[in-house]
Amino acid sequence: QLQKREQLYEANEAAALLYQHCLQHSKFGAVARSYLEQRGVPAKIIEHYRLGCAPDPDQVGWSYATDQLRNQGISQDSLSKAGLSAVSNRGGYYDRFRSRIMFPIIDMTGRVAAFGGRILGDGAPKYMNSPESPVFDKGRLLFGLHQHRETIRRQRRALIVEGNFDLLLLAAHGVDCAVAPLGTALTRDHIRSLRPYSLETILLFDADAAGLKAVMRCIPYFLAEQVEARVALLPAGHDPDSFIRAEGSAAVIDLMENARPLAEFAFDRLADEHGLTLAGKNKIIAELKQLLKEATDAEQRGLMASHFSAKLGVSPEYFITEKVMAKRPAM
Ligand code: GTP
Ligand code: MN
Ligand code: MN
Ligand code: MN
Ligand code: MN
Repeated sequence: QLQKREQLYEANEAAALLYQHCLQHSKFGAVARSYLEQRGVPAKIIEHYRLGCAPDPDQVGWSYATDQLRNQGISQDSLSKAGLSAVSNRGGYYDRFRSRIMFPIIDMTGRVAAFGGRILGDGAPKYMNSPESPVFDKGRLLFGLHQHRETIRRQRRALIVEGNFDLLLLAAHGVDCAVAPLGTALTRDHIRSLRPYSLETILLFDADAAGLKAVMRCIPYFLAEQVEARVALLPAGHDPDSFIRAEGSAAVIDLMENARPLAEFAFDRLADEHGLTLAGKNKIIAELKQLLKEATDAEQRGLMASHFSAKLGVSPEYFITEKVMAKRPAM
């Protein structure tokens, strides 16, 4: 079993080198490099994050990477399990990643556990990630944590962004403390994986309906894990990539410094949603009570209850009448 895992890492490492080579030396690579340049990704970022590309099948055939890696002695079984090859309905193997910019996802052992891939223009699917495998659990692994953990430790804070390009553009502008989940909602395990490095997490999600919803969805996890978190709000329509390109790093750092505590963010969202009529307040109270049940730290629960009660003009006891079923954070 251990040997199997080693073989998957080996396959991924060979693929990462192949994709890096394609970006620098193939015909499709030239197009991919100009795409990256146009998106403001400098050469040093391409190198540092080991970006590559999976070539265009019209130029090299549908099993280019599979064949190359097989020739290097990687077994078909490993290529299939790592999600680098897929089986066609005629029984042959073809490359799962084609005509895409490739982002290797490095785990905490420093090895390539998976890939993310983006097509160069519009189209679907925009992003494609490696399937889960014995070395890739998407609910646990965060893109960037390996590369950024020392900065995160030093600054005692981590930024969570939604996308790969958000992370890369922030880093290109010197903000190298971001991590990103891989096309999945943030999980408790993701949050837990930051705990050894950062005291505080700042959520910097896209300023659209999906981004706001994503923040609300993960608030209970932060409370349960007792990880301090704040929400930085971008101007509507921006994501961190577009914002830092438009406004520069000082503006991002300013947003981070002015990020609002989760409880305040949650209250304002609920107030927006339900309104502060009597009926609205009843709904808000019900939802906030649910949220407070998640908070495993009594002091934090008390602070939140007093914030909510002041905002609503009701007594704090209102929020702590029921016995709270405190779930301990998992170790
Ligand atoms: P760019 O268009 O390259 O700037 O991407 P983005 O990061 O701004 O994308 P978006 O805000 O639409 O989505 C955020 C993240 O969700 C992406 O970085 C991906 O990880 C993921 N995502 C978006 N679209 C897809 C998709 O079609 N498939 C998968 N698996 N993930 C996606
Ligand atoms: Mn490094
Ligand atoms: Mn988005
Ligand atoms: Mn986005
Ligand atoms: Mn974007």
